[in-house]
Amino acid sequence: MIIAGNWKMNPNYQAASALFDVLAHHFPEANSRCEIVCFPPSCYFTMAREKLIKTDISWGAQNCHQQEKGAFTGEISAQMVAEFGGSWVLLGHSERREYYSESDALVSDKLAAALAAGLRPVICVGEPEAVRVRGAQDEFVQKQLAASLENIAELTAEAQKAALSRLVIAYEPVWAIGTGQVASLQDIAEMHQGLTAKIASLFGSNLPQAGVPILYGGSVNAENAQEILAIEGVSGALVGGASLKADAFLSICLSAG
Ligand code: PGA
Repeated sequence: MIIAGNWKMNPNYQAASALFDVLAHHFPEANSRCEIVCFPPSCYFTMAREKLIKTDISWGAQNCHQQEKGAFTGEISAQMVAEFGGSWVLLGHSERREYYSESDALVSDKLAAALAAGLRPVICVGEPEAVRVRGAQDEFVQKQLAASLENIAELTAEAQKAALSRLVIAYEPVWAIGTGQVASLQDIAEMHQGLTAKIASLFGSNLPQAGVPILYGGSVNAENAQEILAIEGVSGALVGGASLKADAFLSICLSAG
């Protein structure tokens, strides 16, 4: 199980410091059930590196640029994250897709950059509410996934195997993010089944034996985590709001396994 906290553009400096301290302190019990990953804002990378150093809690960036370096004011590259000690990157979060117009092709280019830098990418996919209402979610999300993974599809078999062994997918229905409106257990189970089948059809025998982990995200909290994590095909959770509350996040970690 992987439990990942997406802090988004939160919290302030003091609260971030306190959150890292609590995680580091409780790490042995929480980590016994799952692999814990934090995605803090990049200005807190030094803090993440220093405060998590004695733990196995890993951390990463919420985004990266598709190029290794250059005149891209305001951006950071996957290489920079890796050199600084981060080991993960979130890519294609629905907020990036919506507010920064990130297309599947761009997500796929960022994925290639993340893999080249040695990071573990979490590729986020999920349908908006209107798509769910008309019942087209499976087709929408599977298409989004295939296009976001295009750059892996083009690799040689050996490179593809290496890439797939590091890949993680997060299914996050857009209408469930930050709304408290969690998807039903059946909806989650069906989507994860469909995504597993899609990944198998795309990559077949190049997949790792245990498959590619698929996390669920969207209003996961301390109360609903246990039943969500118990769904077959759910390999963990990507947690937004509840990852900012140490107690709630630790409780979600303890619900795993
Ligand atoms: P939420 O966010 O848990 O606040 O719904 C999840 C996410 O955006 O990754």
